[in-house]
Amino acid sequence: MKILGLCGSLRSGSLNAAVLRSAAELTLPPRELTVDPGLDRLPFFNADVEQNALPGIVAGLRAAVGAADGLLIVTPEYAHGTSGVLKNALEWLVGGGEIADKPVALASASPAVTGGDRARAWLAETLAVMGARVLPQDLRIPQATLKIADGRVTDAPTREALSGLLDDLARAAAEARENDGTYAS
Ligand SMILES: Cc1cc2nc3c(=O)[nH]c(=O)nc-3n(C[C@H](O)[C@H](O)[C@H](O)COP(=O)(O)O)c2cc1C
Repeated sequence: MKILGLCGSLRSGSLNAAVLRSAAELTLPPRELTVDPGLDRLPFFNADVEQNALPGIVAGLRAAVGAADGLLIVTPEYAHGTSGVLKNALEWLVGGGEIADKPVALASASPAVTGGDRARAWLAETLAVMGARVLPQDLRIPQATLKIADGRVTDAPTREALSGLLDDLARAAAEARENDGTYAS
């Protein structure tokens, strides 16, 4: 069971990157969660480049998404939307089609009491248009500076909720594999 984690923040002290780090630590065999660290190296989406000379890093991202059983996307909220970094990555993924039918779980952490709700709503709409199976369950982490410290989620209920979301994602991924006939274990 391969889960690919994508984080929309590039900040070294990112609250959202901390959520993804904790998610990776909470994921135990036979599940594995790997984080794509390359979103900041993607060029800005350009349909001419996509058509004429697809950059290797884009092909790599598409392959990683294609090989994953599910995605965990963790987003900051910037100006009531997701980050440009994440939007750019999704634009590159539209043409590849690898995200179609892929189970995707969303999480967001914000210092605000709204917990990144608008960023997740924005992302869910975009991913639905791309044909992803966005889980109805998600994770909002409001007042995240009180719940995250030293690059990890420290708040026990939030860690439990994150574990629950990972279980939901694994279940959805297993179901998707069963439905397309490739479930092997
Ligand atoms: C340009 C900018 C816009 C922001 N807009 C919002 C917003 O609309 N809603 C919100 O809850 N937080 C907003 N914030 C605060 C971010 O949620 C906060 O900086 C958060 O820590 C970013 O995520 P990160 O810690 O993973 O980098 C904004 C921050 C910046 C720098």
